[in-house]
Amino acid sequence: MDLEHAKTVGIEAAYAGAQVLRDRFGNISQIHKKGPFDLLTEADTASEKEILRAIRKAFPDHAILAEESGAGNESAEYQWLIDPLDGTTNYAHQLPFFSIAIALAVRDEIVLGLVLNPMDGELFSAIAGNGAELNGKSIKVSSTPTVYESLLVTGFPYDVNEIVEPVMNRFSVLQQGSQGVRRLGSAALDICYVACGRFDGFWEQNLKPWDKAAGAIIATEAGAEITDFSNQPFAINQNEILVTNGTIHQEMLSLLSLEN
Ligand code: IPD
Ligand code: CA
Ligand code: CA
Repeated sequence: MDLEHAKTVGIEAAYAGAQVLRDRFGNISQIHKKGPFDLLTEADTASEKEILRAIRKAFPDHAILAEESGAGNESAEYQWLIDPLDGTTNYAHQLPFFSIAIALAVRDEIVLGLVLNPMDGELFSAIAGNGAELNGKSIKVSSTPTVYESLLVTGFPYDVNEIVEPVMNRFSVLQQGSQGVRRLGSAALDICYVACGRFDGFWEQNLKPWDKAAGAIIATEAGAEITDFSNQPFAINQNEILVTNGTIHQEMLSLLSLEN
């Protein structure tokens, strides 16, 4: 598999989706609800259509797991994981902070990740073993040594009200122990912002594979450490994710354990 070729195709697909999202930004007539707080706009669907068109044209045999159209061709060796609009709530409220996330996995191992912010043009990318880049320039995680000196970011799943107590307890512990905790609304960008050192750590529960696959390879290639809250190595189907610069990882794990 020529991963540079796959990257070129993935970038073309991301730019096609980004064009759709920019064109429709601020002009959404109908917003559907997948759950009480889980929104779906016509832009999610239209962006996904363009992304799938570009990927299927180049790789008709590959499997695809896309948020809005589900999975297909699951026996294939190569699988693309696609979030055509990460940050739908922001988008629906005309808040210009959202992304497109595209990853490629070979037998469950993520080998390529792309996260594009259509509004500011930032493109995060990584091929396994080749490092991570932001708009073609190498990026790496911060060297912040303690949580006390860290700026953190988190997100809340749509079912947050069912697990509100542990989510808010962790938020409170980390807010009090750090320079601050941000909640920006696009998990893929949150993870990439750890990868390039803007944040020192990110955690969230109940993310889906397409939210985190692309960011995970980008962060790993930038030197991040990724586990669940029990320090189990990253796996795409885990319920919890903690991404840090490595240095603060153990301290973050201990604060997230809620046993202090
Ligand atoms: C959501 C965003 C958000 C995170 C939610 C995700 P969506 O994805 O990544 O930051 O907190 O858990 O579901 O629905 O906008 O693609
Ligand atoms: Ca998402
Ligand atoms: Ca989405």
